[in-house]
Amino acid sequence: MVVRRNVDEALQDLRDRREQGRLGGGARRIEAQHSRGKLTARERIDMLFDAGSFEELDAFAQHRATEFGLAEQRTLGDAVVTGYGKVNGRLAFAYSQDFTVLGGSLSEVVGKKICKVMDLAANSGAPVVGLIDSGGARIQEGVLSLAGYADIFLRNVRSSGVIPQISVILGPAAGGATYSPALTDFIFMVKGSGQMYITGPDVIRAVTGEEVTHEQLGGADSHASRSGVAHFASESEEDCLQQVRRLLGFLPQNNMEDPPRLDASDDPMRKDDELLHVIPARANSPYDMTRIITRVVDEGDFMQVHERFARNIIVGFGRMDGKPVGVVAQQPSHLAGALDINASSKAARFVRFCDAFNIPLLSFVDVPGFMPGTNQEYGGIIRHGAKLIYAYAEASVPKISVLTRKAYGGAYIVMSSKGLLGDINYAWPTAEIAVMGPEGAVNIIYRGEIASADDPNAMRSQLVADYRERLVNPYVAAAHGLIDDVIDPADTRSKVISALEMLANKRETLPQRKHGSIPL
Ligand code: HXC
Repeated sequence: MVVRRNVDEALQDLRDRREQGRLGGGARRIEAQHSRGKLTARERIDMLFDAGSFEELDAFAQHRATEFGLAEQRTLGDAVVTGYGKVNGRLAFAYSQDFTVLGGSLSEVVGKKICKVMDLAANSGAPVVGLIDSGGARIQEGVLSLAGYADIFLRNVRSSGVIPQISVILGPAAGGATYSPALTDFIFMVKGSGQMYITGPDVIRAVTGEEVTHEQLGGADSHASRSGVAHFASESEEDCLQQVRRLLGFLPQNNMEDPPRLDASDDPMRKDDELLHVIPARANSPYDMTRIITRVVDEGDFMQVHERFARNIIVGFGRMDGKPVGVVAQQPSHLAGALDINASSKAARFVRFCDAFNIPLLSFVDVPGFMPGTNQEYGGIIRHGAKLIYAYAEASVPKISVLTRKAYGGAYIVMSSKGLLGDINYAWPTAEIAVMGPEGAVNIIYRGEIASADDPNAMRSQLVADYRERLVNPYVAAAHGLIDDVIDPADTRSKVISALEMLANKRETLPQRKHGSIPL
């Protein structure tokens, strides 16, 4: 006779198992994790999701490996917590690597758990967030754990441009394991604990003789400011996960949706006379473009992406009358806002992300040109600058630009110009559009006259003034329809909002092709 277990006993057994799983690698290892200033995988999940909304999957999954003592080291759920829940009331999926279980290493089963939530996220059209804290491929499992990484990479690529993918580096991410975050849209790192590198300090010392610490090599500061691998660097895990929540608030759930509209409390018609005073009188003096951006977007709420990398260009998210926009802008206070290699690839990537996810582009333009120099040329500024042209030209979301001061040469064309199908191009009355700045232009077209003049300096000044008067103003471009309107800076907000409303149903069909061949 088969005797069914008493329901109460069965439920108690379930609770016991769950409790055991919740402890991951055990109290001692949780303690060790805390003593390093790190949260556990589950504490991080609790911080990322709305309270009580997280539903865990595969909590009872276990690895099947037996070699190298693994038979005695089975933990319920293995080294990752996976599932779904709500972030600001909207569905999101996550996986959170558990360093207390075999160093968060990726076993065959961990790989399968991660792939399951990635598939669910892709199929249900919601973002996926990876919380990374792992010693990499589980060494004892060999090729099966490597295969798990391949499965993840494949899904990262297949989901690219379909659902937003975010990686949060809260511990080690070394070797090939770094390539899953690298394939996602945004990387967050926490200072002091998140570290990413292809080869660690020991290998570097052995191969090149260089001495470098883990943090110098792959810490949040290095990747947020030097390599550009990280988009955000935070002081604490708590702040970092709050920033992830904030970022998700600007993004649609998937590429078939528009980004979420908030009830706007900022007046769309708000005039701002302060904008008249941001641009310095002298054409070459620096000013801080973020002053303009924060005055134009809703309630000054602007989330910069890649804030410390390639600071000569600014990219980030804001809202206009409640609707998210992607802002791209020169930063005249850093390298005069010139376009160089890093600025071009930073902005190109951002423009493509916005285009993939139906986020209109708002560009504030003040660009003296491309950065001169042998290191720029040898580094391939031609190749990298081409990425930004490609990205703007290809983007079919609404494209609005505001020319605040100057747009010279090829850089004028790059920055959302009419020729690249900018939908609405505004200029402030202070704007200058030309092949090059007046001084450079006069030195070339009047070289002979200046050289033979009695007073070359006086003549040059006169010619510069004349050139500026005749060519370097927004009205020549406006006369040809290359600028749609010259606007009072104080009205920038209302003009942009009205253009965005006009373009709300914009549809643009690109030629059929498998995909373009962007100069990578
Ligand atoms: C199995 C691992 C592990 C791994 C760590 N552990 N990494 N177990 N496979 N990859 C275990 C440790 O044995 C230890 O177990 C526990 O996790 C905690 O690790 P510690 O070394 O004590 O922690 P810590 O001092 O903080 O150092 C963390 C670490 C270090 C820097 C990550 O553990 C480390 O260097 N691990 C190996 C990293 C590595 O080479 N991985 C393979 C990379 S190649 P006990 O039982 O002692 O607590 C790779 C390829 C991916 O990932 C390719 C994709 C294409």
